[in-house]
Amino acid sequence: MDVISGIPELTARRAAWARPVGLVPTMGYLHQGHAQLVRMARQQTATVVVSIFVNPTQFGPAEDFGRYPRAFERDLDLLRSEGVDIVFAPPPVEMYPPDFSSWVEVEEITSGLEAASRPGHFRGVATVCNKLFNIVDPDRSYFGQKDAQQVAVITRMVRDLNMNLEVVMVPTVREPDGLAMSSRNSYLNEQERAAAGVLYRALMVAREMRREGCRDAGAIVRRVAGVIGTEPLAALDYASVVDPVSFRAVESIESAGLAVLAVRIGSTRLIDNMLLED
Ligand code: PAJ
Repeated sequence: MDVISGIPELTARRAAWARPVGLVPTMGYLHQGHAQLVRMARQQTATVVVSIFVNPTQFGPAEDFGRYPRAFERDLDLLRSEGVDIVFAPPPVEMYPPDFSSWVEVEEITSGLEAASRPGHFRGVATVCNKLFNIVDPDRSYFGQKDAQQVAVITRMVRDLNMNLEVVMVPTVREPDGLAMSSRNSYLNEQERAAAGVLYRALMVAREMRREGCRDAGAIVRRVAGVIGTEPLAALDYASVVDPVSFRAVESIESAGLAVLAVRIGSTRLIDNMLLED
């Protein structure tokens, strides 16, 4: 496994890589969710590149950029054991030189939910992913369903701007109690960690209601909010049922809806989602 930090070094070497090339963008502090993306890339592509870059431009001024967890050596051990070919870990000043001034704005999908709670977040995500795509030139790039709105934004950007790669969405990897794995779970203390299981329980109630024939998104959202309300340590940020492609809220679930929610457990903000199908 080669660990490359310089952008010129990476671009100089990529002509020698076997194709197809798979890219897994990450911010490090890796867990089994990230590992699942890497395994999918390993199965489907000849050269697997994983980027580790805590992207400053997707964090708001009051968010956790400064204290975002980092464990570079441990990350490298995990990636080595998953058979990764290249780790790309660029220094921030190379990604964002002082006179950096070009941004990618994906509209419409970014008008609600995560975008409303985190202004500028998806501009940072879209911009850094566009940069990574230009630097690595992958045939496929792998993203987790856990961040479903992020997948929708990247998929729309790739289509709208005719980027020459395929976006692959990988199902969410969960802890035994259903909590979606996340680097931010490390912020939770023991009681908060136990309380965090309420997100999955609420989403399972939504799935069950749909399976029993309910198409009324409002009724489902009220039940989800009710389940979150039973957990004293949890505060609902938003719950909604959206169209999985446009991310617009739906009133009635036709072929498929995506139940999405964001919940604060203490000072930690967690998100999760579940597809509601016929
Ligand atoms: P990060 O939070 O490190 O996540 C990297 C990738 O792992 C994302 O595609 C995310 O959806 C996926 N992932 C995280 N937890 C997962 C889980 N439990 N199951 C499946 N996949 C999971 O998302 C980012 O970084 C950044 O926004 C990034 C795309 C790297 C741009 O900076």
